[in-house]
This record gives sequence, C-alpha cells and structure tokens, in this order.
Amino acid sequence: MKVKVAILGCSGRMGRNLIQAAVEHQSIKLVGGSVRESSSFVNFDLGELAGIGAIGQKTSTQLNDLLDADVFIDFTSIETTLENINWCQQHNKALVIGTTGFSAEQVKVIEQASNNMPVILAPNTSVGVNLMFKLLEITAKAIGDYTDIEIFEAHHRFKKDAPSGTAVKMGQVIADTLGRDLNKVAVYGREGITGERKKETIGFATVRAGDIVGEHTAFFADIGERLEITHRASSRMTFALGAMRAAFWLSEADNGYYDMQDVLGLK
Ligand SMILES: NC(=O)c1ccc[n+]([C@@H]2O[C@H](COP(=O)([O-])OP(=O)(O)OC[C@H]3O[C@@H](n4cnc5c(N)ncnc54)[C@H](OP(=O)(O)O)[C@@H]3O)[C@@H](O)[C@H]2O)c1
Repeated sequence: MKVKVAILGCSGRMGRNLIQAAVEHQSIKLVGGSVRESSSFVNFDLGELAGIGAIGQKTSTQLNDLLDADVFIDFTSIETTLENINWCQQHNKALVIGTTGFSAEQVKVIEQASNNMPVILAPNTSVGVNLMFKLLEITAKAIGDYTDIEIFEAHHRFKKDAPSGTAVKMGQVIADTLGRDLNKVAVYGREGITGERKKETIGFATVRAGDIVGEHTAFFADIGERLEITHRASSRMTFALGAMRAAFWLSEADNGYYDMQDVLGLK
C-alpha cells in the first residue's frame, strides 16, 4: 500500500522538488500540496508547478482540503511550520519538518507536540549529510580532544538563516560526543583582534553566494595534518528524496520525536 503524502509549501524551491520526488516514488501517493491564499499558484496543477507536466491535482490553500494525506512534508517557514504542527496534532497526522532555523524554545514546542503525533525534525534530509553526522561522531571520539574543530558552510544567496541548521547540527554532534556545551564553545564568526584560538571552541564560518545548493565541511586540524569531512549537495533532489524516505518511515512510526538518524537506522 502506498503512503499518502501532502506537501506544505509546494510552490517553494524545495516544494517543487518534493512534488517531483513524490510523483516518482513507487511507495508514495501524492494527494495534494498547499500554497498561501495570496499565492499566484492557487488552484495550480502540482505537476506543472514542478515542471514535470500536468498530473491533474491542484494546489490547496486550506489544510482541511488535504485530510486524505497520512503524512505531511513541510518545507515552509518557521511561523508556518509552527501553525502546521498544531493542525497536524489536532488531526492525528504525521509530520516531516524540513524547515530550518528553529530556536531552542521552538524545538521544545515541536518535541511537546510529538507526544500526540509522529514528528521528524530534519534540518537536512540528505542521506549523505546524515551519514556525515555519524562520521563526525566517530572522528570526534578518536581525535576531537586534541584537534582544532571548525565548521564551514556555504549556501545560495536566498537562504534566510545562518549558520545553516546542518552546520549547527554538525557542531552539536561533535560537542555532544566531546561532552562540551555548544552554547558555551561555539564561535560564530571572528573579526578584529580576537586573540589566540581557545582550545575548546568550535568555530563556524558562513558563505552566502549565487546558487550554491549546500556545502558543509568540518575541519579537525592538528599541527602537521588536518582531516576534512565534506558534503556537497549538487541538486535539491537529494533533500527531496531523503524527505520521501523519511515520510515512508514515519508512516509506520508511533507518536514521538524522531530525526533522520532514526530513519536511516544509524542510532
Ligand atoms: N531539511 C532540508 O534538507 C532542507 C533543504 C533545503 C531547504 N530547507 C529549508 O526549507 C525551508 C524552505 O526552503 P526553500 O528554499 O524551499 O524556501 P522557499 O523557496 O522560500 O519556499 C518556502 C515556500 O513555503 C511557502 N509558504 C510559506 N508559508 C506558507 C503557508 N502558510 N502556506 C503555504 N505555503 C507557505 C512559501 O510561499 P510564498 O512563496 O508564497 O511565500 C514558499 O513557496 C527553509 O527553512 C530552508 O532552510 C531544508
């Protein structure tokens, strides 16, 4: 049986890729997608939106029109996702959240909602990135205590939050493995006379330029050598395909709070 999926924010950069990935996925049935009431894509064919030709399904402005879906995939904005999570909770729907940039307090709201529904919070749905998190854990365990750890990320000019959710998660994985508090050791950018690098710090550097889909590197640097672990996304389809994998997995999960490590069996 196919899993019935709806895409929230389907006219966005990710939304259009998600439509294509859902249509092409053999275990998923796309039942609809949402746009804003003010959108120029109201009542627009989903396939045409994705550039894959008409599929005979139109965009909706009301989540109540999408009740047929079992799993919702949300790549919108922080405010919209927080509204959508309330609706999903009230209607017993599972939710894959791809939206990024939530504060610690907002994450707590999502965690609380997961008592009543299955939720995946996935700031990066790429399978490669999530494997990278595992590699970071292994590396931090082996050499993290004596190397300088820095994280670099680059994205397109339209991205609204920085550093990326993925970069922060990379820092979190490393800090957790080393027993450090990321809030205390993170350094977000440097300028002026900063003094020598403090051993415990985890530095973040951000680039925003052109159409870069997403690049992340963790440096573990010692005197005489440096290990770099890099992931480069060359197309948004990697995130869309990972989101479909997450939606399929979530359709069989109990109420609870999950991430892509759960989906990929990496825990
Ligand atoms: N998890 C991952 O792997 C991953 C990968 C890439 C991006 N992201 C994140 O996903 C989010 C979206 O990224 P994007 O690049 O696709 O941005 P985007 O192009 O701005 O798309 C967001 C879409 O959401 C729509 N939207 C906002 N509020 C809505 C509402 N109430 N109802 C219906 N649609 C609504 C917007 O509509 P309007 O155009 O009408 O405002 C827009 O089409 C960001 O947080 C981004 O950081 C995550």
